[in-house]
Amino acid sequence: MTETSRTSTTPASAPGARAPLRARAEILSNQVESGANRRLVVRVPDWPGSGPGQFLMLSPGALSAVSRTDPLLPRPMAIYRERAGSGSSEVEVLYKVSGRGTSLLAEAEPGQLLSVVGPLGCGFSELASGARAILVGGGTGIASLYGLAAAALGRGARVSVLLGARSAGELMAEADFCELGVDLQVATEDGSGGHRGLVTELLEALLDGESGAPPTVFACGPTPMMRRCAEIAEARSLSCVVSLENRMACGFGVCLGCAVPVAAGGYGLVCREGPVFDAGDVVWEGLP
Ligand SMILES: Cc1cc2nc3c(=O)[nH]c(=O)nc-3n(C[C@H](O)[C@H](O)[C@H](O)COP(=O)(O)OP(=O)(O)OC[C@H]3O[C@@H](n4cnc5c(N)ncnc54)[C@H](O)[C@@H]3O)c2cc1C
Ligand code: FES
Repeated sequence: MTETSRTSTTPASAPGARAPLRARAEILSNQVESGANRRLVVRVPDWPGSGPGQFLMLSPGALSAVSRTDPLLPRPMAIYRERAGSGSSEVEVLYKVSGRGTSLLAEAEPGQLLSVVGPLGCGFSELASGARAILVGGGTGIASLYGLAAAALGRGARVSVLLGARSAGELMAEADFCELGVDLQVATEDGSGGHRGLVTELLEALLDGESGAPPTVFACGPTPMMRRCAEIAEARSLSCVVSLENRMACGFGVCLGCAVPVAAGGYGLVCREGPVFDAGDVVWEGLP
């Protein structure tokens, strides 16, 4: 297996980026957000800070006196938001309870400890001042886009955010995006919130009405959603950047479990060269 070199869209882990930390983090809160979604806040000592689109590996549940072996492996989660303090930072994660690891995580209580490794991966590039960005988030992929939206607004970019979920109850972070003050639209497949249908339909309609600086499309969510975003952008000769959510075992380039075929030939490691890729670098047929 050969690995590719990093694409130009992802300098967040370029030389000079801070090394990831391995730490024990105290749970400050772990609350129901909506439906199966939870909002976790942990206090991480000496957290080096992260860039939009980076992630961390979280132990599947609170640490206990006896090491857990089922499940053994940590779970990758986007760094949703962070607040730096003196000596430690508060790091926030939005997650959906979808299997054993996240179920155990949902049982963890304030005061208990989690193991954290991060920040990991190459995140989103900094947008040029005044750029036009359209962010498309589906399901748990929404969590990876909040930091990008906040950073892009901070750079004076014009930001639209399109969020999709099966139903309104499954939608993550709508209120947070509203609070940021982005132009926000929602799609739900069952029509319980916003446009009834797919979030990619909102993307097509928005792009049809665009004028001025060509937008860049940023997408994170289920593979079919990201692939459709890539097709829609390509048909209009627009750049599209995606953040892949493959399953990961180690999160930092050792196990090769997250390797995906890339257009240049060979394989790319989603955890180390991604999770953010130019959509054109992704061999969509090769993704799980
Ligand atoms: C870079 C990155 C960032 C992520 N950020 C978030 C986040 O912010 N919030 C969040 O809720 N989830 C996020 N995920 C997905 C999350 O890691 C998985 O949902 C989690 O590992 C499931 O663990 P589990 O033990 O509960 O489920 P498992 O028992 O391992 O699986 C339960 C179900 O989820 C599916 N699944 C497992 N892992 C993934 C995956 N990586 N992508 C899609 N489906 C999966 C399985 O096929 C199965 O159907 C991210 C993944 C990556 C790679
Ligand atoms: S998750 Fe182990 S190499 Fe990427």
